[in-house]
Amino acid sequence: MTVSGMNKKSGNTITVFKGDGIGPEITDAVLSVLDAAGAGLTYEIFSVGEKEYEEHGALIPEEGFQSFERTGVLLKSPITTPVGKGFRSLNVMLRKKYDLYANIRPAKSNQAVKTPFPNVDLVIFRENTEDLYAGVEEMVDADTAHSIKIITRKCSERIVRDAFDYAVKQGRKKVTCIHKANIMKLSDGLFRDVFYEVAKDYPEIEADDKIVDNAAMQMVMNPEKFDVMVMENLYGDILSDLSSGLIGGLGLLPSSNIGNGYAMFEAVHGSAPDIAGKGIANPTAFLWSACMMLEYMGDTECAARIRRAVDEVLTEGTHITPDLGGTAGTKEYVDEIIKRLL
Ligand code: NAI
Ligand code: MG
Repeated sequence: MTVSGMNKKSGNTITVFKGDGIGPEITDAVLSVLDAAGAGLTYEIFSVGEKEYEEHGALIPEEGFQSFERTGVLLKSPITTPVGKGFRSLNVMLRKKYDLYANIRPAKSNQAVKTPFPNVDLVIFRENTEDLYAGVEEMVDADTAHSIKIITRKCSERIVRDAFDYAVKQGRKKVTCIHKANIMKLSDGLFRDVFYEVAKDYPEIEADDKIVDNAAMQMVMNPEKFDVMVMENLYGDILSDLSSGLIGGLGLLPSSNIGNGYAMFEAVHGSAPDIAGKGIANPTAFLWSACMMLEYMGDTECAARIRRAVDEVLTEGTHITPDLGGTAGTKEYVDEIIKRLL
């Protein structure tokens, strides 16, 4: 599979999970923008999360899973992780169950958020299933712990190939492999070797590599020099948070988790219970996640129209939400976006 959405299963039907806190509000906002933009999608909408658990005993209803298995495309709003009930993260569960191996996080500077880095436009492809994150650990004796780093050709190749496919599709110029192969010669060496093997299939895209600690410094000093980046799980965990910091925090960050025939799109932020129900939540990160979804499904034109309208409203700055320093509610902000789409 590729990030182009070749395996999309069920026409223009998508599964939507309405979560907790601001989840329902930002879901309604995003669906209204998709409709106004003429995305032509049909929705199978499920309530998921804490409320669903209290009422029906499961965070996600069985019909919700079945729907995702039919449609292959899931737009998921944030859920509140129940505290103290021994829950595994729902996201970790979904990633495992559907082998959503590619975690893609774009970070782009925005007019609405002033930072020292106005020209960031990078995309991180993080391998989502192996590396130290597999959590294979053992106590060798009472005072010695081993944690085993697992890197396979199969998992390295599929994430690297997705990064290059994405670069081609999005008109990007360069893919950079991040690693520590100077020290971990076998595991990170394998990842880097696979990277350069795959790169041969994409002669039009520049391929280079950087050692992870140097990359961290370069990202802070010259973030505009990075384009598409691909890396193992742990480096991706750390550097994607670093990239969030460059553009002013998690508030405007979309993400996707992609596997073979399954793809889940969500904002990076949580359910924001402190502002739930007040009508002031910022739906932008979720809306940009929906744009990534449209691109995955092949409707780049519709995604581009939505992105343009959002950019205009953010740049103008007169109808933005309180988290960005404005006074508009979710509805006023979304109405302004919709006005520019009609
Ligand atoms: P959070 O991201 O929900 O909120 C952090 C702060 O950012 C809060 O002040 C909130 O009001 C603000 N904020 C977040 N999104 C916003 C938006 N769209 N518009 C305006 N302001 C926004 O993180 P927090 O408070 O740590 O977590 C709350 C709940 O969300 C927890 O139960 C957590 O487990 C869950 N969570 C769920 C995620 C998911 O489903 N993907 C991801 C992260 C957290
Ligand atoms: Mg993290």
